[in-house]
Amino acid sequence: MDRNMPEKPLGVALIGTGFMGKCHALAWRTVAATFGGAHPRLEVLCDATQESAERHAAQFGFARSTTDWRAAVADPAVDVVSITTPNGMHRMMAEAALTAGKHVWLEKPMALTMEDAEAMADLAQQCPDQVTILGYNYTRSPAFQAAVQMVANGEIGTPLSFRGVYDEDYSADPNLPWHWRMTDEGGGLGALGDLGCHLVSQMIALMGPVAQVTAQTQIAVPTRHSTEGPKAVENEDSALALLRFASGAQGSFATSRVARGRKCRLQWEVHGSLGTLVFDQENMNELWVHRAGDAGFVRHLSGPDQPDFAVFCPAPGHNFGFNEQKVIEARDLCRAIAGGAPCGPDFAAGLEIERVIHAMARSNGTAVAL
Ligand SMILES: NC(=O)c1ccc[n+]([C@@H]2O[C@H](COP(=O)([O-])OP(=O)(O)OC[C@H]3O[C@@H](n4cnc5c(N)ncnc54)[C@H](O)[C@@H]3O)[C@@H](O)[C@H]2O)c1
Repeated sequence: MDRNMPEKPLGVALIGTGFMGKCHALAWRTVAATFGGAHPRLEVLCDATQESAERHAAQFGFARSTTDWRAAVADPAVDVVSITTPNGMHRMMAEAALTAGKHVWLEKPMALTMEDAEAMADLAQQCPDQVTILGYNYTRSPAFQAAVQMVANGEIGTPLSFRGVYDEDYSADPNLPWHWRMTDEGGGLGALGDLGCHLVSQMIALMGPVAQVTAQTQIAVPTRHSTEGPKAVENEDSALALLRFASGAQGSFATSRVARGRKCRLQWEVHGSLGTLVFDQENMNELWVHRAGDAGFVRHLSGPDQPDFAVFCPAPGHNFGFNEQKVIEARDLCRAIAGGAPCGPDFAAGLEIERVIHAMARSNGTAVAL
């Protein structure tokens, strides 16, 4: 039982029932069972069609359903709004929720443009009693938490260099139909907004703020078919960047949504003056550590010695999973609402992530200072 969890039930509205909608719903249903505190009241579920809203409300255990997201956000029984809709809806939904006095759990990326993200961060700053958190779930795994702690403790000395990649192949097939993610108005940035922002969230947690980027982007499949005929792909399929951190350390960064064979290749390594850390999300229960003098790398397997593993499973080697990251994210949000430790990335920290990916998008091979 976590004494920092809410004693009174939080009323929840969930908007969207796709990949992330279900992930948020599972987290809301699990968070109190896992960590203690009052079980959230699942008040209202909103989706694009009434049939889907009703079906998912029944499946996920929400009391009511609607297709009117404005009504869901304004509902007096709702304290916190989970927003899991396409990127182009993030700003209007998050701003409406904040204006209605609600806490906000918003999926990444924060918004389509820097202007949108700045406006959202400004509004959040004007609502100091309301908690905001963005869906950077990969920062929650026990292996990643251990890596951050090891860097902070100086266990690998001074971080000198970061090398990171986030590749998937969900858009590699040129016959795949056009999708909202591929447009300026639906997706905003492409691979950078969908995948690269996750890598940036981890990179900043490990290395500190980014001072400069020099990047190139590429569209591999310029046109996709749709029911209305061929449509242009408006945002990047891949990006490459060199970085300089405020600490003086250097970095390299690559992301692609058209990398054949790659499924969730969120991989990075940090080279420090006394050691190196290596991580791969496809093997998310492992952190590989080299300390000066070792012959090679030692595998640190996540296990019940790590509190955020132990709450799910008392047995080593039984593995922590993707959806459990989201339960930890929900726990952090609940604690912050109950007045405990601040959680993040909030909208202010999310704005820093947006600055990095948008600087990469506009760099066109020249150095951009942040
Ligand atoms: N954190 C992560 O690891 C992660 C993974 C995937 C997606 N995402 C993010 O989550 C968001 C959603 O992605 P997804 O893959 O779940 O998309 P999706 O297409 O699977 O789901 C989107 C949902 O939004 C609903 N929706 C659309 N318009 C709506 C409206 N006007 N009112 C109510 N509901 C509406 C759709 O019906 C659908 O249920 C995106 O911002 C994406 O970047 C995050």
